[in-house]
Amino acid sequence: MLIDTHAHLTDPAFSTDLEEVVFACQQKGMKVITSGYDIASSQQAIALAEKYENIFASIGIYPEFAENCNENALKTLKNLAKNKKVVAIGEIGLQYTDNMPDKEIQKNTFIKQLKLAQELQLPVVIHCRDAYGDMIEILKNNKHLLSFGGTFHCFCGSEEIAKEGIKLGLYISVGGVSTFKNATKLQQTIKNIPIEKILLETDCPYLSPHPYRGKRNQPIMSEIIAKHLAELKGISPEEVEKITQENVRRLFKI
Ligand code: NI
Repeated sequence: MLIDTHAHLTDPAFSTDLEEVVFACQQKGMKVITSGYDIASSQQAIALAEKYENIFASIGIYPEFAENCNENALKTLKNLAKNKKVVAIGEIGLQYTDNMPDKEIQKNTFIKQLKLAQELQLPVVIHCRDAYGDMIEILKNNKHLLSFGGTFHCFCGSEEIAKEGIKLGLYISVGGVSTFKNATKLQQTIKNIPIEKILLETDCPYLSPHPYRGKRNQPIMSEIIAKHLAELKGISPEEVEKITQENVRRLFKI
């Protein structure tokens, strides 16, 4: 079974045909983890997960909204996490690009949510952009908050960072970017890390795999990413499907 471990099915890009997008997944026997990025989208993710058996939810506050992660928001997340379809805290993390909240605020918010995940006995889904140095430092200093594991979603760091993450007990999530023609460095990294530590994801509606780059992405595109991963690893797509499914079961318990 293929599992898209990171999608945004609550995105307006799916507002007119979500039923069909989910139906296409059901036809292929796929499961999907749809991810929140603030309180409202986390609530929407849970609502979708309650509606469809093959959809699960990840809840959390994304770096862009780090300033909103007050006591109240944490309490709300804690309550939302009581829902059985919630399988992770995320996406949470750091993004040091323009127009993002202050680094210290981002770091605090990230650590608060690592604590929350540990308390709730849930894995974390980590978003990281242009911040791998601080990210690895925080994770190393807070290893005790990673008992339930996690994943670097849409991984785009170096091989060294991937290996550091794996040492910390994290998985490396591979999406459409890994199929891009100019992603040779990332492809080399994927070749050099064990498939037992790799998850598949689309991050849809963004980051469609080659040759659909620039078009709307959707969970069934996981098939293309899986095929590409199989080629990189020199194994069959069936093996990729089987091993990544086991990886998902270990991390997300689904
Ligand atoms: Ni995402």
